[in-house]
Amino acid sequence: MTAAKRRRTQTFMIGVFDSGFGGLTVLRKLADRFPDISFCYLGDHANVPYGNRPSDLIVDFTRRGTEALFQRDARLVLLGCNTATAVAARRLQQHWLPGSSWAGAHNVIGIVAPTVEAATQTPWAVTSPQYPQKFNSETIAVFGTTRTITSDVYLEEIRKRCPRVQVVQQICAHLAGAIEDEASRDELTGLVGAGVSALLEQTGGAAPDRAILGCTHFPLVEDLFREHLPQATKILSQPDIVADSLEDYLSRRPQYLGGHHPRPRALKMLTTGDAFEISTRARIFWPDVPAFESVVVTRV
Ligand code: DGL
Repeated sequence: MTAAKRRRTQTFMIGVFDSGFGGLTVLRKLADRFPDISFCYLGDHANVPYGNRPSDLIVDFTRRGTEALFQRDARLVLLGCNTATAVAARRLQQHWLPGSSWAGAHNVIGIVAPTVEAATQTPWAVTSPQYPQKFNSETIAVFGTTRTITSDVYLEEIRKRCPRVQVVQQICAHLAGAIEDEASRDELTGLVGAGVSALLEQTGGAAPDRAILGCTHFPLVEDLFREHLPQATKILSQPDIVADSLEDYLSRRPQYLGGHHPRPRALKMLTTGDAFEISTRARIFWPDVPAFESVVVTRV
């Protein structure tokens, strides 16, 4: 077979990486939106949660997870994790990938850029304020892990494009871990309630116009955020935003899909944890998710 023919008949998966279950909120949306595209998901359950870990370790885990997905026929890896995106995406894109054996045909992208684009209604390529601005007088709340919030990536990238928008950030340090550990409803309610109260203290009680749940685990308890946030606050749906943006990205870069799309498409689920346990727990919030397989990628 010629190289050109091979390219036309080869199918690539889209890789989705997260520290654990959080990326499933994104994958589920992608699986619905793109019924013909094959996905390979990797949850680094052996090392979850990432959110309070040192940055270098998060970069290392994210690089190894990305490589594991490249090795399994993903040409494009989407980091379905705000923490990995905030801490590692740029370092991998600029410092690791170009000098690696994957350079050229592979890429890794994150989920902060599309979320900022949606929050500011401004394309990522535009890095200075454009007037008139639709959201100039708004307050945007951002909830995230310690690393995401202390990176200030949302604050800086939103303010670059909309400098008069007030960005109020709140660390929810233990929420992703509690979701992973199947904490009780009462415990989760307490953690979400405390995060929302701390954020409202910063605004002097005023309702933020919009809220970004800037951790992909948090949509799993979106109902609790809805309960605690003022009714006037609109919660942005990051999984929908990411699906919209991936659709646009792939329409411009179809090379990441390859040429041939077998039906039914594949949904391959990988974990660095125990496959049986992770499959059982994942079905609590995604009843028909395919069974996970265990892989060894990262260990602390
Ligand atoms: N789901 C992840 C995020 O979006 C990571 C949570 C964690 O592992 O702490 O930030």
